[in-house]
Amino acid sequence: MNVPFFRVDASGNELRYVREVLESGWLTSGGRVLDFEAAFAEATGAKHAIAVNSCTAALHLACEAAGVGPGSEVLVPSVTFTATAEVVEYLGGLVRIADVDPITGLLTPAIVEAALDAHPEIVCVIPVHLTGTACRMRGTARSPGIIDVCEARGVKVVEDAAHAFPARHSDGTTVGSAVGSVACCFSFYANKTITTGEGGMVTTDDDAIASRIRRMRLHGIDRSAWDRHTRIGAAWEYDVVAPGYKYNLTDLAAAIGLAQLERSDASRDARRGIAARYRERLGHREEFSLPEVESTADSHAWHLFVIRLRPEAGLDRNDFAEELATLGIGTSVHYKPLHHMSVWQKLARIPESGCPDADSWFEGCLSLPLFPSMTPAEIEAVADAVETACTRHRQPAG
Ligand SMILES: Cc1ncc(COP(=O)(O)O)c(C=O)c1O
Repeated sequence: MNVPFFRVDASGNELRYVREVLESGWLTSGGRVLDFEAAFAEATGAKHAIAVNSCTAALHLACEAAGVGPGSEVLVPSVTFTATAEVVEYLGGLVRIADVDPITGLLTPAIVEAALDAHPEIVCVIPVHLTGTACRMRGTARSPGIIDVCEARGVKVVEDAAHAFPARHSDGTTVGSAVGSVACCFSFYANKTITTGEGGMVTTDDDAIASRIRRMRLHGIDRSAWDRHTRIGAAWEYDVVAPGYKYNLTDLAAAIGLAQLERSDASRDARRGIAARYRERLGHREEFSLPEVESTADSHAWHLFVIRLRPEAGLDRNDFAEELATLGIGTSVHYKPLHHMSVWQKLARIPESGCPDADSWFEGCLSLPLFPSMTPAEIEAVADAVETACTRHRQPAG
């Protein structure tokens, strides 16, 4: 049986809502975007939700609003997608790469604290809630979280939550709500937990940050096209207050997003169920370790299910993935670390000792298919194929 790495689920109101937009005669940012923003703000508990056309745009706008500019140094984890770092370059800032926790692939408060103490020139940190697991943002006086460590030094935080909708922090608050960061950035790329094809959202509780991001998302104009269309007064009367960007989301995309949002909790529960079944089937294997699956709490967004091959098992990750491919199973790798990429080797500041934990994450990580429309037979086929690949690829000892 062939199981793709991902299959999009548009089984709800997607077509109906898109048709309604097409029939309405208003395709670009308008009423549906406002509806989507309101629904997303409610889902995350954020005061403001600002829709944009990608998470990359969201990160760019959030960093700009946070004051990142020419020469600003920004700390990013090595295990992430290049977008997390590239937005710093857009603004003329300097990327400083940090190693990650070898078990979770996440930035930790200890890693951030050590980097900030060694490099007081860092003005902003972008933690990435990789796979859908929130980084430890808030802690206690004895064991502070990333935000606590940053606040104590006057350093801003912009969250990369591209993988983390819907997810919760360890204290139960929703990722995207007021944890103390400047803003939180989500992705609605085609294979994310909810999609608009391409799209993203910034959430924030700060009125000034929200207003800056709203303006900069559409050319720095002080009135949106929808506002000029719907309010009485000359549509051409507007001011441009800054050289902004063209990052607005369309009503067509928002229509898809609204339909996806209606099923987001059920989809997350379905993904968690698949993760739990993978653990039941594969948890006994010594060749790799698996992420923990909580039985009742729902803190994880379950965007990705990453297995980590143990070095002592002698399995090569690429061979293992190829074997799964020959058995019809799609997999992926999240991620080849930034410090392996030629552009970041040239432009970023990388720890002198390298990022050994990011390296070991990369060498062993493999993401299995995890999407809500997987059938029970597909889930079993993935688990069967993983077992088969383990036996076929065991290398002779010595
Ligand atoms: C961690 C992370 N950050 C940012 C992005 C950028 O998202 P988008 O494709 O919506 O711009 C991605 C996309 O895969 C991602 O995985």
